[in-house]
Amino acid sequence: MSEAKKEIRVATGDRAILPEGTKLVPIFIMGKQYRVPETMTIQKAVEYAGYQFIRSCGCRGGICGACPTVYRIAGDYHLHFCLACQTVVQADMYLTQLPFFPANRAAYDIEKVDASAETIMKLYPEVMKCVACNTCTKACPMEIEVMEYVNAAMRGDIAKAARLSFDCIQCGLCSSRCPAQIQHFHLAQLCRRLHAKYQVPAAQHLKPRVADINAGKFVNMLKELVAGDEDGLRKLYVDREMEPQESSDWQPQDKNFL
Ligand code: SF4
Ligand code: SF4
Ligand code: FES
Repeated sequence: MSEAKKEIRVATGDRAILPEGTKLVPIFIMGKQYRVPETMTIQKAVEYAGYQFIRSCGCRGGICGACPTVYRIAGDYHLHFCLACQTVVQADMYLTQLPFFPANRAAYDIEKVDASAETIMKLYPEVMKCVACNTCTKACPMEIEVMEYVNAAMRGDIAKAARLSFDCIQCGLCSSRCPAQIQHFHLAQLCRRLHAKYQVPAAQHLKPRVADINAGKFVNMLKELVAGDEDGLRKLYVDREMEPQESSDWQPQDKNFL
């Protein structure tokens, strides 16, 4: 194997590939051109270009919302929005990432509010300024009907707002585009909290489990885990009992922590 091959192994997803035979495409990261393998996600391409993430990267799996990205393709006026960890690069992509988007979160005591339009108006009065442009929906990388959940919240249909916003990962792209300056993801979180608190039946198994936690039932187990070495923890993980896919009454053999 040549020195070049040894040096420049790069990862694309879970596969290691060699740059030889892999097409490189030009992309522009914060205005500077780099040539990166065409199979890479934006996130991996940014690292391939030499950057190290200290923000704008978390789960790498489309769940945490840390990697919202804005880009245009040369010659096309459209502005595009995506998650860097979920989007493969394209030639002549001009991109930048949004490490954080400021949005004020209302302060409230969940015990002292109710699941109503009045609560929404009081805590997030700016929802009334929505002009129904649907820009928020177009910006959402999770394909959520953002305008629909804002409108449902405005009408006091908290259950619908909670359901529609369930996949929100709080990336902030919707709020970055809204002409009414609405803070969608905090509003959505309020709706889901109100829905869970006041509209769905309480989970009966939760109370005894919280009591177990408060009584310290898991303290020793956690101490053992913290004291364990890496090999031991890996073995524990590999050997763990798994709940079968098709099962309604499965119980682990070790019932110490049930
Ligand atoms: S971007 Fe703002 S104003 Fe436009 S539909 Fe969405 S919430 Fe309403
Ligand atoms: S609703 Fe807004 S904050 Fe939530 S995932 Fe979509 S764009 Fe991101
Ligand atoms: S790194 Fe978590 S969603 Fe992209």
